[in-house]
Amino acid sequence: MRHKIAVIPGDGIGPEVIREGVKVLEAAAEATPGLEFEFINFPYGAGHYLKTGELVPQGGLDQLAEMDAIYLGALGDPRVPTGVLEQGVLLKLRFYFEQYINLRPVKLYPGVRCPLAGKGPEHVNFYVVRENTEDFYVAIGGRAKGRSRAELGVVRSIYEAKFGLDIDVDRGEVAYQIGVISRKGSERVIRYAFELARRKGRRRVTSVDKANVLTHAYSLWREVFELVARDYPEIETEFAFVDAITMWFVKNPEWYQVVVTPNMFGDIITDLGAMIQGGLGLAPGGNINPDGVSMFEPIHGSAPKHAGKNVANPLATILAGQMMLEHLGEREAADKVEQAVAEVLKEGKVRTYDLGGRSGTSDVGDAVAAKAKKL
Ligand code: IPM
Ligand code: MN
Repeated sequence: MRHKIAVIPGDGIGPEVIREGVKVLEAAAEATPGLEFEFINFPYGAGHYLKTGELVPQGGLDQLAEMDAIYLGALGDPRVPTGVLEQGVLLKLRFYFEQYINLRPVKLYPGVRCPLAGKGPEHVNFYVVRENTEDFYVAIGGRAKGRSRAELGVVRSIYEAKFGLDIDVDRGEVAYQIGVISRKGSERVIRYAFELARRKGRRRVTSVDKANVLTHAYSLWREVFELVARDYPEIETEFAFVDAITMWFVKNPEWYQVVVTPNMFGDIITDLGAMIQGGLGLAPGGNINPDGVSMFEPIHGSAPKHAGKNVANPLATILAGQMMLEHLGEREAADKVEQAVAEVLKEGKVRTYDLGGRSGTSDVGDAVAAKAKKL
């Protein structure tokens, strides 16, 4: 089949890793009769923003809506204040296209060192299904009872404040941010997690929350989890508090099969997940709307200090491409890419500095592409 893929290279190392991702997808297409791609580049990110003042314009959203999927590098740039690109591009796309599932496989491949003593590939192989459109990410909040430094027109760093150079701001000031959990939003992601377990032959789904303290929001989440679980009697279920699960990911990762979690806890535990699968350089994610346009990306950021040096590990992005293939129904090509990545990792000859090697970003892409073509 022919697929129209929007490519957003983004900032920092984004363009370098996405180039390798596209290279591998092209190799997979070459090796898979009938599979074809049309890649269309979109410039969103720091450069475009600084030049035009535009994040993602409505016209861009309309064009993206016509694509079969979006392939994203990374966003974030020291020249742009924190949050602008994250919210204006990444979260904008997740929300606009209602990509309500953030699927993050945590899988340790043979040949990759696990930082957990005594744990290997047979112990680290599960899925985190992160809710992706609610919780504290809805951006409801504000400040009251005072004026911020910004409003006073004075910007002082935390360090200046710490060393006694603080300015006269109203000490009564408060800030608040509201997390939202909806019945519909929980239902759809929790059901997806159970369906995933069924599809992948997994026997247990773990629900993450903090229902012992944040009782209002997460009691609804729990209630919905229990209701949905009834439709999957063959699957074992359990609840884990978010603080406890960070401990268990380290102590007993082999226990986990499918973990479903509200948005913010999912953000936090998948960075931990990335570490136990060998590092951020190996962790892909899919922002999925089963009935709409989905977006695939490495879960790492733009790592500005490594940008332009051909040193970043492109495997997280390549594996995000593999997830995209699977999502597009290209099972055979997806398997080829995964196998190619697994072989390159196992051989250990071509690897970037984060995995203890000296190869360049493009060497890793070349090695995976060459293998994929031969499979
Ligand atoms: C992630 C990132 C994003 C998130 C940021 C960049 C908005 O940390 O994809 O995990 O918090 O979801
Ligand atoms: Mn994150």
